[in-house]
Amino acid sequence: MCQNPLEIRENPTAPFEKEAPLRLEIGCGKGDFVTQLSVRDAEYNYYAMELIDDVLVAAVEKYAVSRGLGKLGVYGGWEEPDGTLHKEPWDIPLAKRGNVRFIRGDAKTLCEIFPDGTFDMIYANFSDPWPKKGYEDRRLTAPAFLALYARLLKDGGTFCFKTDNVGLFDYSLETVGASPFEIVFETRDLHASERAVTNIMTEYERNFSEKGMKIHCLEAVIHK
Ligand SMILES: C[S@@+](CC[C@H](N)C(=O)[O-])C[C@H]1O[C@@H](n2cnc3c(N)ncnc32)[C@H](O)[C@@H]1O
Repeated sequence: MCQNPLEIRENPTAPFEKEAPLRLEIGCGKGDFVTQLSVRDAEYNYYAMELIDDVLVAAVEKYAVSRGLGKLGVYGGWEEPDGTLHKEPWDIPLAKRGNVRFIRGDAKTLCEIFPDGTFDMIYANFSDPWPKKGYEDRRLTAPAFLALYARLLKDGGTFCFKTDNVGLFDYSLETVGASPFEIVFETRDLHASERAVTNIMTEYERNFSEKGMKIHCLEAVIHK
């Protein structure tokens, strides 16, 4: 977990040990994607946001255990691998927290947490499709969300989106196409595309592709 949101707004790199460009994953689920990406592309710092408490706690612990950073204490707090117990997350030295910070929150509040132009990349993987009429504005590729991402990204920053859901992908191609973003990559079969070798699978992606479903992906760049 990370510091006070007011501190983050003043300086989004403050909660990290090293200065580095920032990436954001929205709706990180149990954290497989950001955990792997943050090791492979270790020259970045990462924020991962998740709406649901229990899911976020699972993500934090998975990340920390996989990086040898400790685990949740049996009676609360955070236990380092050597048994040192910290009551509050901000008591843990930055050097012992790796390059990912997790935030429990709703994507619609992102601009209250981060200043404009914070991120190089924003990822939204397998977000809820909200297929029923009247719920379109909850989709993470609805125009209001794209406007948030456009603010939060640097000039030339990229929004990356993956889904198994054909209806959501069609909708997203339309909304992103009508936004200031430029679509630079799109595929309806990611695992058969040129991106397959560099693709990192999420929990949902593994599940869906094991069932034979095709993974759709788009990447879009913002020019400010
Ligand atoms: C279908 S799951 C996908 C999880 C993960 N990204 C994956 O691909 O395995 C979508 C996740 O997004 C979270 N989520 C949905 N709406 C959100 C929002 N507005 N802000 C933050 N997280 C959200 C949900 O709680 C859920 O954990």
